[in-house]
Amino acid sequence: MINFQTLRKAFGFYLSADTPSKSQHSFIQELCKEVFFNKRNYYALDKIDTLRDHLKRNTSKIQHQDFGAGSHYKTKEKTIASFAKTSASDKYKGQVLFHFARHLNAQHILELGTNLGLGAAYLASANSNSNVKSLEGCPNLSEVARKIIKSAKIINTEIIAGQFSDTLRRTCQSMKKIDLAFIDGDHSYDSTIGNYKTIQPFLYKNSVVIFDDIYWSEGMTKAWNEIKESKEVVLSIDIYRMGIVFFDDKLPDENLKLISSKLTPWRI
Ligand SMILES: C[S@@+](CC[C@H](N)C(=O)[O-])C[C@H]1O[C@@H](n2cnc3c(N)ncnc32)[C@H](O)[C@@H]1O
Repeated sequence: MINFQTLRKAFGFYLSADTPSKSQHSFIQELCKEVFFNKRNYYALDKIDTLRDHLKRNTSKIQHQDFGAGSHYKTKEKTIASFAKTSASDKYKGQVLFHFARHLNAQHILELGTNLGLGAAYLASANSNSNVKSLEGCPNLSEVARKIIKSAKIINTEIIAGQFSDTLRRTCQSMKKIDLAFIDGDHSYDSTIGNYKTIQPFLYKNSVVIFDDIYWSEGMTKAWNEIKESKEVVLSIDIYRMGIVFFDDKLPDENLKLISSKLTPWRI
């Protein structure tokens, strides 16, 4: 729901954000062109966007066990349509996930929070040789997501059912290293920091970690601020709806807030 707080945060970001011309570093320029503001057409993206449109009309009900922050009920009946409209990655987030996986040529990809499997579909569709492991706490949702992923003919994705506290460490151990992680599960301070700490031993200099909804709550913003300031993070990029951290010490040591120059033409 959009309320005054949300508008205030979005406006604050808008006023303080940088356009791509802020950093002349080639890595950042490439990311802007290939990931954040890539407007080229990709068949795989169109296919998943069409799938989302179908899901938004699907009125089948699921008994959902929610473990996430902000969930007031332990078990709740919800339609697939309502998940597709409110919890699943939308078109822009999907593009960012797909383009990151493609641009980095990420092979070992981890997602925390599968939901209907749309985020996993974007991550997996970038490269059929990659391996995506996606973790989901609600058993019914994991089952539905498996069917959705199968119907989309995506074969390089494994959906692992169970709470992160039970599945995350052993999944990381089986992956050995993580090229790209998308943290989109429980949007609370403690879980975000805890899950980040669990994956940390499996990260290396070329890993990239994407945090969803970094302004969703005070706890999320606090976790994001701590993570981006931590000693192992070299570069952080805040695109408001997501925050991304990089670890390679050859990258510029910066905390960037990025906005499209189309939204701020007077700042180019
Ligand atoms: C925002 S949705 C994920 C959306 C998905 N990543 C996408 O891109 O479409 C968050 C999901 O995380 C799951 N979740 C939240 N906390 C969890 C936990 N502690 N363990 C396992 N799953 C959890 C919820 O059941 C929910 O389906």
